[in-house]
Amino acid sequence: MKVNDGSHRAFQTNNDQKIHCDGTIEVLGKIKTSILLCAIPAAVGGETIIFNSVAAFYDLLENDNSRYIASSLLDMQALKRVAVNRNNEEYIGPAFAIKNGEIISRFSLDNTCDWDYSFENVKLLKEAYALLVDTIVPNSPFYIETKLKCSQGIIMANDKISHGRKGFIDKHFKREMIRGLFEKDLE
Ligand SMILES: [Fe+2]
Repeated sequence: MKVNDGSHRAFQTNNDQKIHCDGTIEVLGKIKTSILLCAIPAAVGGETIIFNSVAAFYDLLENDNSRYIASSLLDMQALKRVAVNRNNEEYIGPAFAIKNGEIISRFSLDNTCDWDYSFENVKLLKEAYALLVDTIVPNSPFYIETKLKCSQGIIMANDKISHGRKGFIDKHFKREMIRGLFEKDLE
């Protein structure tokens, strides 16, 4: 479907969209692959942001000083997301999990997230959140920004990385991205 169809708020504005995994109220790990194809790029801005959430989380787990704090992100109440403007359905679950020996993620920061809810309910979560957010900067090894040109696409492991976009300005044509969500793994 075209991402500017429908009532999804993020698809209706030219504002930036903070990082997120697709499948706002889906169980962690359900939407394994997300594809974004650029039909019409923005005249200015609209870069796609990629954050390797699983790698950043693994880095915290590897460090003796942050392991205990970071493990709060595995809590069953670590992340509440709400389908804003779509019945406000919600799903509360872990931000990360370990499944079949792999870390999977639904780490998100966009307007669907209610982190304050979880900060009140999960010990050390605020500290873990701050440690991860500190790594979402342009010179971080876990962060990439790229601007897709016409007909260029990106295939993402939606259960491992998070993505977002920068704000943009249209000129003669409206920016148009085509999105596909899949429950299958990348092969
Ligand atoms: Fe998305």
